[in-house]
Amino acid sequence: MALAGPPPFSTVLDLVGGALDPERKLVERRLGDMQGMYAAPVPDERLDERVYLVSEIPVPIDEGNLLSSTTTIEPGTVGGEYHMTKGHFHAKLDRAEIYLTLAGEGRLVLATEEGEHAVEPMGRGTVNYVPGGWAHRSVNVGHGPLVFFAVFPADAGYDYKTIEEQGFPVLIVERDGAPEVLPNPRYRG
Ligand code: PA5
Ligand code: MN
Repeated sequence: MALAGPPPFSTVLDLVGGALDPERKLVERRLGDMQGMYAAPVPDERLDERVYLVSEIPVPIDEGNLLSSTTTIEPGTVGGEYHMTKGHFHAKLDRAEIYLTLAGEGRLVLATEEGEHAVEPMGRGTVNYVPGGWAHRSVNVGHGPLVFFAVFPADAGYDYKTIEEQGFPVLIVERDGAPEVLPNPRYRG
């Protein structure tokens, strides 16, 4: 039988900071990449500020392989909304994913195409199951970095456009120093 996977290999994951050794493909997102995703505009002087970093363990994008990555989201808010990832559906909609939080405190916001939503906790040791068909965005509601490890089918792909156009049904905002879930008045789902 022809095998689609790479030969066996290993990576060391720093269970506190999330760094991978050897260091792998890095994707950095700054506030300037997030224009229109927060309810408030990003102020010009903050456009260069880094919000999150994704470090991926690359494998061939074939059905049967598993991709994995760590994400580190810096703490902070924009117009009262906590720092967060862009969020996406998987391009192959039915592909599921697992998140394991290593550090920090967060909320995982999920939504279906029909507008159903869920907000799940993220904290050290939390394993979140993201079922196929659910868009997902992670939000750092703590005072330090939120770090999590993700594993998903390599052929899942990313659909960012739907979320860019519709948003999520809810926002996670800071109220008196604590997270609050509010309906998103701009949601277009
Ligand atoms: O696979 C995932 O869902 C994660 O690794 C995310 O891609 C990562 O957290 C960054 O979020 P986004 O892809 O929405 O920018
Ligand atoms: Mn995903």
